Amino acid sequence: MRKKFIIVIFGGLGDLARNKIYPVLYSLYKKYRLVNCIKIISTGRRPNINKEEFYMILKESIKSEDKNFSALFDFVKLDLEKPEDYINLKNVISNYKDEEYIFYLATPPFTFENIIKNLGEFLKDYPNKKKIVIEKPFGYDLESAIKLNKLLKNYFKEDEIYRIDHFLGKETVQNIFGLRFSNIIFEGIWNRNFIDHIQISALEDIGVEGRLGYYDKVGALRDMIQNHLIQILSIIAMEPPCCIDEKAIRDEKVKVLKSIREIKYEEVPNFAVRGQYKGYLKDENLNKSNTETYAAVKFYIENIRWDGIPFYLRTGKKLKKKETSVIIVFRKIPGLFSKILDCIPQENIIGFKIAPENKIVLNFQLRPLGGSILSCPMPTSMEWSGPNIEAYETLFLDIIEGDQTLFIREDEIEKSWEIVQPILDFWKNDPNIPIYESYTYGPKEAEEFIRKDDREWRYL
Ligand code: BG6
Repeated sequence: MRKKFIIVIFGGLGDLARNKIYPVLYSLYKKYRLVNCIKIISTGRRPNINKEEFYMILKESIKSEDKNFSALFDFVKLDLEKPEDYINLKNVISNYKDEEYIFYLATPPFTFENIIKNLGEFLKDYPNKKKIVIEKPFGYDLESAIKLNKLLKNYFKEDEIYRIDHFLGKETVQNIFGLRFSNIIFEGIWNRNFIDHIQISALEDIGVEGRLGYYDKVGALRDMIQNHLIQILSIIAMEPPCCIDEKAIRDEKVKVLKSIREIKYEEVPNFAVRGQYKGYLKDENLNKSNTETYAAVKFYIENIRWDGIPFYLRTGKKLKKKETSVIIVFRKIPGLFSKILDCIPQENIIGFKIAPENKIVLNFQLRPLGGSILSCPMPTSMEWSGPNIEAYETLFLDIIEGDQTLFIREDEIEKSWEIVQPILDFWKNDPNIPIYESYTYGPKEAEEFIRKDDREWRYL
């Protein structure tokens, strides 16, 4: 019999809770995955909200008026700055003596320290099993991430800490692991002998969308590359783990991060480029801001498998289209055969489309049916059908089950900050930021950045 648990959500009236967490909990509830959940305690700062008003918020969020599901919820008013409000929460929680506690911090990063301290102190009186879930961004730079880890460790053990990166819950991201390690045909070519370079992109057509308070302090490198894209890189580049075990898998990912060649401060312009979309200041009512809404970085992994092979990571807002993808570009075919093709030969690629749809693309040269003996590039794609499970749902279930494979470990988070830190430092001191037109593919500097390596940005 599994342990009964309660969930406590900090930031229960915020966007994340309303857009993601409640719908995901409802989906789990309908699938009978919350049968052991005996209470969900939502907290928020709004003082005068009564139960009925909270139920209205819930109803809007889950798009259903399910009385049984709503009955699982309690709302506790909590101003994160006020220690006395934590006592209210403590009183409510103390009704659940034997249950496991799951605390979900769906709040802005500046609140983490306060919540952890207050929670940690009052939990000292409770021997209950507990888990704490922390949203990204985990820290603001290497120093603050180390500090936050230290603080957490005062009160929680590593196996109680779930640092979320929702990209790891995405279907196709998990399929990179599946495709690599459950098909023998890929292992032999998954290395520097066959691969020319790898592109990992998260392009968005939306802008900052009302999140300026957060985004302007953070920028694209912190928002997307330090976490989501470096995580994908580690899955693409990792060695096969010894077993399907959370420690073994995370160990392999960390080894990749440790092998990334350090970018020295003075080398940053050769390895990273940024941009800001035209109109960012006007749209967001700012006089001045150097925050990048576009960033591209080139990493090298210094190990036997990847030495010399560039990994290009890029992300941007207000670009021409939404596309999240990984494109593995193989070397050009050598010699005679490349000359007899009746069109320009293209490199083979394996592409993983992560958004907007799930797809794997293979690009071959192939003789078309009924064509001449010569070949043409022939993209072949595989789309698999089935319910597209929301990343947060996968991750929430793992939290309940206590599986940390898809969560970021302490050493992993610190290493990924260390990797981007010189770029953050350099950009902080550089007042010149290239501007790009909205709804294009980003700044011309980013085109030049990859073109000088004799390559081009790819799309699926
Ligand atoms: C978030 C970033 O982590 O990921 C956002 O903070 C970004 O800026 C979002 O828009 C993209 O995630 P998804 O799942 O919509 O591709």
